[in-house]
Amino acid sequence: MHTHTTVAIVGAGPAGLLLARLLHRAGIDCVVLESRDRAYVEARQRAGILEQGTVDVLRAAGAGERLDREGLPHDGVELRWAGRGHRIDFPALANGRRVWIYAQTEMVKDLIALQLAEGPPLLFEAPVTAVTGPDTQRPTVSYAHEGAERTLTCDYVVGCDGFHGVTRRAVPDALTTTYEREYPYSWLGILADVPPPSDELIYAHSPRGFALASMRSRSVSRLYLQVPNGTDPAQWPDERVWDELEARLDLDGGRKLTRGRITQKSVLPMRSHVTEPMSYGRVFLAGDSAHIVPPTGAKGLNTAVADVVVLARAFDQLHRTGSGELLDAYSETCLRRVWQAEQFSYFMTSTLHTDPEQSPFTTRLQIAQLERIASSPHAAAELAGSYVGPPLP
Ligand code: APR
Ligand code: PHB
Repeated sequence: MHTHTTVAIVGAGPAGLLLARLLHRAGIDCVVLESRDRAYVEARQRAGILEQGTVDVLRAAGAGERLDREGLPHDGVELRWAGRGHRIDFPALANGRRVWIYAQTEMVKDLIALQLAEGPPLLFEAPVTAVTGPDTQRPTVSYAHEGAERTLTCDYVVGCDGFHGVTRRAVPDALTTTYEREYPYSWLGILADVPPPSDELIYAHSPRGFALASMRSRSVSRLYLQVPNGTDPAQWPDERVWDELEARLDLDGGRKLTRGRITQKSVLPMRSHVTEPMSYGRVFLAGDSAHIVPPTGAKGLNTAVADVVVLARAFDQLHRTGSGELLDAYSETCLRRVWQAEQFSYFMTSTLHTDPEQSPFTTRLQIAQLERIASSPHAAAELAGSYVGPPLP
């Protein structure tokens, strides 16, 4: 049983698992506590786009082998509106950088397999109930495991426990500022056993609402439709989903979608959220526990990865030199990138979706924005640079 560690990590999503891997390789002790069981964590459907910087980190951490075999490098995306498409060429516009299609759930499986084989300790079905003493030398993490209440003392706690986690609660409300926006629409996401309609992603603006054609492999499509908040997936039988995707994607020459078995259907709310600061005393927040973006632009996972890279480097500096300089700067360093991701995700979301209350004037502005991206290399480069992501700090 583990009773003390250097860094207690709450949550085994991509942020917690990658942080554990980076600390382990730096020779720093840690323990990961995850509330769910392994099968649940490995089956959760989430994002699918890895920025170049994320891929570089996974490779350097020895977690890039399957990604290099099965991941699909993408050199562009298509924006569609008013029945025509415009391709954004990443390498040409963003200094040779590109993105990769590799499902977050696959990345999670790879990191779990590595951690169970090589350490550090990873406990499933170990929900953390409280983090206490964040401003003392010895914070304590209380958790349940195998029917017993347990405690883990540590030098530092990192909350990688997502938006609904408990670690954020250890930071006093009076010292926290929350910035939030909810959007007046959601996404209906489906997974289907059909080849994607195009080799690259398609982001479509349409009078019927937004649609996105993404993929998980050459034979599995991941497709999204803008739907009203509160939509029940049962309102969307398969034929209705395909008809609507076809109408909104409005493919060249009236090309039809390949229809096939839909294996998963769910509704995702859209929200922007930032908690500042991202640290208090010896408690640090990383990934979704500190910030959420709407998924348009695929920044959630990549921003979580950037946080833990900054944090691992800070712990490494402390471990090697005794200096807490990088650790003290953690929140400020991360928030600069976080707000860039918030801004880009807001921009992509508000440019491509149709607010139910939207005036015709706003629709014309959206079209003008898209036309500008299509006609100005500067505007296209701005989008490409944000999409592939800034280099990791
Ligand atoms: N105790 C232990 N584990 C917890 C607790 C708790 N009290 N609360 C939540 N968890 C676990 C969840 O079960 C989950 O496995 O924390 C993990 C959080 O993982 P994610 O929600 O995936 O968050 P994060 O690792 O920050 O990943 C970044 O980017 O693509 C987006 O939202 C998407 O999940 C993605 C995120
Ligand atoms: C996905 O494949 O799940 C995906 C891709 C691009 C996005 C959002 C989600 O912008």
